[in-house]
Amino acid sequence: MTKKLFIETLGCAMNSRDSEHIIAELREKESYETTDDIKDADLIIINTCSVREKPVAKLFSELGVFNKKRKPDAKIGVCGCTASHLGEEIIKKAPFVSFVLGARNVSKITEVLHKDKAVEVDINYDESEFAFNDFRTSPYKAYINISIGCDKSCTYCIVPMTRGDEISIPTELILRETQKAVENGAKEVFLLGQNVNNYGRRFSGEHEKVNFTELLRRLSRIEGLERIRFTSPHPFHMDDEFIEEFAKNQKICKSMHMPLQSGSSKVLKDMKRGYTKEWFLNRVEKLRAVCPEVSLSTDIIVAFPGESEEEFEDTLDVMRQVRFDQIFSFKYSPRPQTEAEHFTDIVDEDVASNRLTILQNLHTQILDEKNQTHLGKVYRVYFEDLNQDYFVSGRSDNNLVIKVKGSDELLGKFRDVKITQIGRTILTGELVG
Ligand code: 5AD
Ligand code: SF4
Repeated sequence: MTKKLFIETLGCAMNSRDSEHIIAELREKESYETTDDIKDADLIIINTCSVREKPVAKLFSELGVFNKKRKPDAKIGVCGCTASHLGEEIIKKAPFVSFVLGARNVSKITEVLHKDKAVEVDINYDESEFAFNDFRTSPYKAYINISIGCDKSCTYCIVPMTRGDEISIPTELILRETQKAVENGAKEVFLLGQNVNNYGRRFSGEHEKVNFTELLRRLSRIEGLERIRFTSPHPFHMDDEFIEEFAKNQKICKSMHMPLQSGSSKVLKDMKRGYTKEWFLNRVEKLRAVCPEVSLSTDIIVAFPGESEEEFEDTLDVMRQVRFDQIFSFKYSPRPQTEAEHFTDIVDEDVASNRLTILQNLHTQILDEKNQTHLGKVYRVYFEDLNQDYFVSGRSDNNLVIKVKGSDELLGKFRDVKITQIGRTILTGELVG
């Protein structure tokens, strides 16, 4: 008899892939099928994020709602990063929760399911060679993990405490998984890791030492694979060899995520990011010199402890110089078990909010100016989503989201699109080929 699984995923792409693994294991080994109707579910899972305070607060309110809506005998499980760092505290606070499964213990999902009040949150557990069953939300694009954990020690970040030390997944497993995804119809892969361009520094067993640039070369030889994307590279590891391969390899999409965090060398030092403002700008310059069409996105934290008005101005200065195509910006949020949690020079809440607004307004202004340049241009779009009102959308090589009138016949296909209308998050166009 099939049982029903309702799963909610918060956080990053890594978490989305973990959810796919959870679904795959439960489908193959326990005969579960997914449902969108929580009242119908036999098992309810929330896959959590703990990178900032907000999603953690959301967890307990969500759990309350799930508990009210569930069938009387439905189980509730908490997985992911908040599971890793709160562990059994979750069951103490919400006793109706049946199990807690950390972000690095996903392969144990079918074990914890059968134990009452199981808590599996060992962040040293090594899943880098675990053969997960196969499930993909989209047939067109495949998420592929290339490493687990993180070996950096950015002072604001909780991830090393929830996902443990960094271990690369063996190259042959990545190639095999990609080959399989391509055979199943995916023309694009999205490589995932906390620091993708640190790939190959450490494997758990004896494996050939392949670095990220070489991994990209090998992946691009797979026939039928047309596009390679990845997230997140670290500015510190952006050496010339990597940038040159990025520019010349036709299969690598020309869109780079470069998490700046701060434009001030002093704040970057306090964050232990391992690079300066000058290094970051130098890498952007090198990248644009060899790949002028590249689009750039970034992550920025404002009001890190001790950030002065002048240091914030440095961030605005980098914004004006680089003119990112997309930014993800956050107010600093103190996280447990991090070094910065103990920093005392806290920036006032209203100053922090003000800085975030200034930063976001500057970005909107830059974006509006940049967007005008897309009008009338033709981009090759890979269509992935069927939207409402007979629109189909996809992405250009440089990561613009573009929609056209059309039907599901376009899904999984590449077409040339001429841009006719500009929007801040999505461009509209018409097919020209
Ligand atoms: N406070 C605010 N933002 C954070 N991020 C990570 N940790 C924190 C924190 N403590 C942001 C960083 C990172 C993105 C995923 O989340 O910008 O790149
Ligand atoms: Fe992803 Fe980090 Fe959030 Fe974990 S804490 S889900 S790794 S963003």
